Amino acid sequence: MTEQVTNISARKDEHLRICLEEDVRSGVPAGFDQVHLQVATLPELDFDSIDLSTKIFGKQLEAPILISSMTGGSGKTKMFNQLLARAANEIKIAMGVGSQRAALVHDGLNETFSIARKENPGGLLFANIGVAQLKEGFGVDECQRAVNMLEADALIIHLNALQEALQPEGNRDFSQLLIKIESVTKKLQVPVIAKEVGCGIDPQTARLLVDAGVRAIDVAGVGGTSWAAVEMYRQADPVRKALCQTYIGWGIPTVSALRGLDSLPEGILKISSGGLRNGLDLAKSIALGADLAGFALKLMVAANKSYETLNDTLKLIILELKTAMFLSGAADLKSLRPKLIKENGDVTGSAI
Ligand SMILES: Cc1cc2nc3c(=O)[nH]c(=O)nc-3n(C[C@H](O)[C@H](O)[C@H](O)COP(=O)(O)O)c2cc1C
Repeated sequence: MTEQVTNISARKDEHLRICLEEDVRSGVPAGFDQVHLQVATLPELDFDSIDLSTKIFGKQLEAPILISSMTGGSGKTKMFNQLLARAANEIKIAMGVGSQRAALVHDGLNETFSIARKENPGGLLFANIGVAQLKEGFGVDECQRAVNMLEADALIIHLNALQEALQPEGNRDFSQLLIKIESVTKKLQVPVIAKEVGCGIDPQTARLLVDAGVRAIDVAGVGGTSWAAVEMYRQADPVRKALCQTYIGWGIPTVSALRGLDSLPEGILKISSGGLRNGLDLAKSIALGADLAGFALKLMVAANKSYETLNDTLKLIILELKTAMFLSGAADLKSLRPKLIKENGDVTGSAI
């Protein structure tokens, strides 16, 4: 393994350790407490008949849940990808793997990602690379290799300007990236998803990304894991540490970022993520227009305890979502969308 690959793997392990051992929350609310669903006092529904299923990129899911991109690229993270993928397969939900950069440079690491497909042969699975890699010589061929590595259904390109700005080893040249993204969307054999990592995607950028051929936007807003906090724990240099601290709450809260996607063209998939705490936040995300909702650190913390804890956590999220739908009188995800109480406070929407 080259020194570069060893460094990437070690950094991924360190990120994971910090996320599991330190308080890496942004401290900024994602905004879900200000969002309300209509209440149907008499729902006129059988709880057991509520349908959470959805179809994304041609694959059927039992619930609109995404295990957000996190791991791969080292021995330890392979084990997490295995656990997460096993749960995704059992519950029939979507999953993304973490950045595949290390495996694209060193074949020996492929298995730490492809294990996710092995565990979940028919499931909806997303590959992942960082936009900064498009500046480092990665092009459509490397993106296609990332997809092929796990027979992925789509490729996530994560946009992490804050993280690159804060890391001493970060790549801070973000010029001329849109055109590179466009060259990937034009030739890649699967759809491209653009995703932030906890700072949100602004409406203008979302529109530019869609114009460049991106088929889905994962807002990954502020409200949950803060990469400035994660990087802060890695820094020994007091200047770098203070820089990270200043930016712990930077970005667009998840709910605002989601609302900012309202004017995107029909057919663009919207993913809510960043600080989702439970299935009620998920229900609110759907009412705000999301098609899918992602959870990252919450599921990693659960997986770090045991497979059973992970499974129970996901089952609880599903029950919470179903309960929200029951209480607002929504028999399926489509019926949940109009249940958002508009900002004028109108609560008169009747389920009956
Ligand atoms: C340990 C860890 C590793 C992550 N690695 C990646 C990554 O490689 N690629 C990526 O797109 N996002 C990565 N993320 C970001 C998450 O996918 C997600 O956008 C972010 O953590 C916000 O979600 P949360 O508040 O539910 O944690 C990572 C998050 C965690 C906690």
